[in-house]
Amino acid sequence: MDKKNITVALPKGRLFEQTIHIFGKAGILGGEVKTDSRKLVIEAEGFNFLLVRAKDVPTYVEYGVADIGVAGDDVLLESKPDVYKPVDLGIGACTIMVAGLPESKEKYFSNPTSLKVATKYPNITKDFFSTKGIKVQIFELYGSVELAPLVGLSDFIVDIVETGRTLRENGLVVIEEIQPSSAKLIVNRASYKTKNKTVMDIIDKLEKICM
Ligand code: PRP
Repeated sequence: MDKKNITVALPKGRLFEQTIHIFGKAGILGGEVKTDSRKLVIEAEGFNFLLVRAKDVPTYVEYGVADIGVAGDDVLLESKPDVYKPVDLGIGACTIMVAGLPESKEKYFSNPTSLKVATKYPNITKDFFSTKGIKVQIFELYGSVELAPLVGLSDFIVDIVETGRTLRENGLVVIEEIQPSSAKLIVNRASYKTKNKTVMDIIDKLEKICM
């Protein structure tokens, strides 16, 4: 495999370890990718790795700076990048949910015409509520979204729920499921053609263990 030419956009954070693990299991990587420094570009095992925020992975892959990357459905649904998504890696499983305080359930299910929603996912939120015919005032936040209904910024949140611990510890409950999410291998459209042999080899190896 000619890995020298392949640049991989890796998500920092919750998906990082699982991505390295699954690439190892597939035989694409032989060992650890060390990230104990603040370096953002790492050469390891013949690959060129870019360490980027999970939300930024699709941008690097769509514009061809990276040939491949790993991104969750939550991120892909939010930014709708023009990339191939050939393999569901089955990692980073979570669910995109509407959540709120238990007492707000009644408001939600009483055919409201408008709602206040805090989220890191404004597009997913807009799309979801527009299919229900509900107007939403969106408060876009960059983290700790669960705080918003507790302090009265919003009625509800749209966020990913993995273990449910953050909701539980803040006295919030799931109101409605939007959709499940897991991480996908994403591939730049041009790289898929120009580096087809190597890219296909990576896809085949991942498919074998992710079926
Ligand atoms: C995510 C998400 C929830 C939490 C859900 O946030 O936005 O807050 O994890 O996980 P749980 O169901 O296992 O509790 P993240 O940890 O990425 O941090 P952030 O709030 O700073 O974005």
